[in-house]
Amino acid sequence: MDVNVQDLSEREGAAVPSQFICTMQEQATFSPHDDFCEQIPVIDLAGLSDNQQENTITMASIASASEDWGFFQVINHGISLALVESTQKLAKEFFNLPLEEKQKYAQNPNDPIPQGYGHGSRMPESTILDWHNLFLHYFLPLSIKNISTWPHKPAAYRETMDKYGKEVLKFTDKMLEIFSRLLGLQPNYLKEEFGDPMLNIGLIFYPPCPQPELVLGLGAHSDPNIMSVLLQDEIGGLQVKKGNKWVGVAPVPNALVINIGDQLQVVSNGRFQSVEHRVVTNTSAARLSVITFLHPNADVMLGPALDLVDASHPPLYPTTKYSDYRRDFHRKGLKGK
Ligand code: OGA
Ligand code: NI
Repeated sequence: MDVNVQDLSEREGAAVPSQFICTMQEQATFSPHDDFCEQIPVIDLAGLSDNQQENTITMASIASASEDWGFFQVINHGISLALVESTQKLAKEFFNLPLEEKQKYAQNPNDPIPQGYGHGSRMPESTILDWHNLFLHYFLPLSIKNISTWPHKPAAYRETMDKYGKEVLKFTDKMLEIFSRLLGLQPNYLKEEFGDPMLNIGLIFYPPCPQPELVLGLGAHSDPNIMSVLLQDEIGGLQVKKGNKWVGVAPVPNALVINIGDQLQVVSNGRFQSVEHRVVTNTSAARLSVITFLHPNADVMLGPALDLVDASHPPLYPTTKYSDYRRDFHRKGLKGK
């Protein structure tokens, strides 16, 4: 079945095809798209300054957000507003191109590493489809990066996206150092442990949906990687699981939404949480997210850091090769481990 969600949503009067309808159990958990939760921490990274007291407070808030929520937003993250705005603008312009133009970049289903333009599909085992279209680019390793497969329209697209990817990589390096320190490890511990990373960026376009009470933009999941860095627009719709409730992540202008992935939960031996999240839809406005995934090297064996394990803190997770973890992840997630 080949359904293009954006195309479908633009056709007037088109009903939601049955493949998108969530189960009744899932529908029962839906909460309104704009039901935002103000408690999800927004952390000002300007606080990581020479001022010892500010520094301590900022580090402590990153620690508690990573432990209690697995999600937080950061402002003063070091990526310029101009770059953030042009990245979002160019991504939106791409999705506004005619379908034939976008399909020139269609993902090749036979490609072992799918890149390019595609549409929403859930975890392999689910037959329910998600209400989005996406464009996936690889930045690292350089052997996979292939700028010639990226859109050449709009004109500034490739250059801007490339610059954005490089800035996010600088940012994730900084965050890995912070997370290492918070765990009481050497500042370069996590970067070295995860090896030469894989970095990819997804542009996810969530068109308005005529029946948001039946459909998800992105089904519930936790991220299998190290951490994800999300630039969401002003529309909102991302929800995070807190206890057994789903709470909405309020859009904060120019902030990055950071979430802990499964591998940070594993290496931290459960101190940092990789939390389930999903995206709900709405009837009136399209939403764009620009999401960067930082992954460990595919060949690296990952388990709880040895310094965090002793007789009273046994390892909570086995050591697994990341490529194997990713392959099995869609079936089991961290819960099945
Ligand atoms: C993801 C994700 C959230 C969003 O792609 O893993 O959680 O807001 N995206 O698009
Ligand atoms: Ni996610």
